[in-house]
Amino acid sequence: MSAIQLMVDEHKNIKRMLGVIRKYCFKVLKNEDVDYKDFYKIIDFVRNYADKHHHGKEEDYLFNRMIEEIKGPAEKLVRQGMLVEHDFGRLYMQNLEKALIAFEKGEEEAKLDIIANAIGYTDLLYRHIEKEDDVVYKFAERSLSKETLEQLDADCEKVEEEAKEKGIQDKYLNLINELESKI
Ligand SMILES: [Fe+2]
Ligand SMILES: [Fe+2]
Repeated sequence: MSAIQLMVDEHKNIKRMLGVIRKYCFKVLKNEDVDYKDFYKIIDFVRNYADKHHHGKEEDYLFNRMIEEIKGPAEKLVRQGMLVEHDFGRLYMQNLEKALIAFEKGEEEAKLDIIANAIGYTDLLYRHIEKEDDVVYKFAERSLSKETLEQLDADCEKVEEEAKEKGIQDKYLNLINELESKI
């Protein structure tokens, strides 16, 4: 499988979790029974699967090659678009974590910040993923040399193997299944 196809498939997994997040927030809104500890599992997924495992491959192997090889328009797209959005995603998770801690300390109003940051993250990521699937990845496939794309495939395959040894993919796919079964 090509690295780009692998990343498109990872987007599908991430979107499943975005669906879970929305459903959890709706339960919070309706004051239904919610296991708030699950939000920490969601943060773990976002930080270690969506960000470290997936964005890591984009940032370390795809985006920097696009900047080096395509330059101009690719640099603008990556630096002012994709990387900024990755950072906004990290901020939403920090704020979500703070809100969860405040809620656990008894601040009911923190529910607002839980919903706002979790939903803000999903909205950001849906749009981000759409842009990558429809524009950024296609641009890379069209514009990078065959050798560079082959090197990208090899680098990503190595990352996948190392992650597999640590059980990363299984752990987070199981978590999606677990949380989906609760909504
Ligand atoms: Fe991205
Ligand atoms: Fe992505």
